[in-house]
Amino acid sequence: MAAIESFVNDYDEYTNDGLFQRIANDISSKGYSVNPAALHPGLLLEHLAQMNAGKFTQAGIGRDTQHMQNIFVRQDEICWITGESEPGRRWLSWAAELQQFLNRRLFLGLFSFESHFAHYSPGDYYRRHLDAFKGEANRVLSLVVYLNPDWTLDDGGELLLYRDMHDMEGLRITPAAGTVVVFLSEDFPHEVLTAHRDRYSIAGWFRVNTSTAERVDPPL
Ligand code: OGA
Ligand code: MN
Repeated sequence: MAAIESFVNDYDEYTNDGLFQRIANDISSKGYSVNPAALHPGLLLEHLAQMNAGKFTQAGIGRDTQHMQNIFVRQDEICWITGESEPGRRWLSWAAELQQFLNRRLFLGLFSFESHFAHYSPGDYYRRHLDAFKGEANRVLSLVVYLNPDWTLDDGGELLLYRDMHDMEGLRITPAAGTVVVFLSEDFPHEVLTAHRDRYSIAGWFRVNTSTAERVDPPL
């Protein structure tokens, strides 16, 4: 019960307002936003602990099916969040609030949201990549939330966010529980360094609607 109460507090409008405001300011001034200890993902963590490990499947890349190649690029396993559970629904409604806030403040026209849990076992990584490609106009904004209590430097698994195509160093982000990262999907190459312990995150993407009369956009 305590966990549920803290979850309710964590997601209340008062707390969200400051965070959403900061994200909107950061996105409009520099295109990315890093917010340590911005959420207390207690219920999501509990949910994850109770989840059947069999629900996770090896992650692929985009819509291609060349799995053998993908495995050199990313090694994590994922589970899509569909809103079948209460914690899942709470998460999706929090994301919907953020979407609405950003649409009002930044006129981004965000239309839908998709997200999954990701699990990196020790030794897993995700090489440098972009979440969306220019001109495809699908994923506009990437959102990552970390679920790892007591993460230390020795645990590795940092997110490296490159500020442009020429940035070779990147901004180093520790995947500590409650850190919320948002960035423009087409503009920031990024990678996940090798994790040395089990690493859990939620990655999500806000999309614009690219449907036309001729082509209906698929949901994923
Ligand atoms: C992704 C991704 C980053 C992270 O899933 O596309 O880049 O830190 N995740 O989990
Ligand atoms: Mn990514």
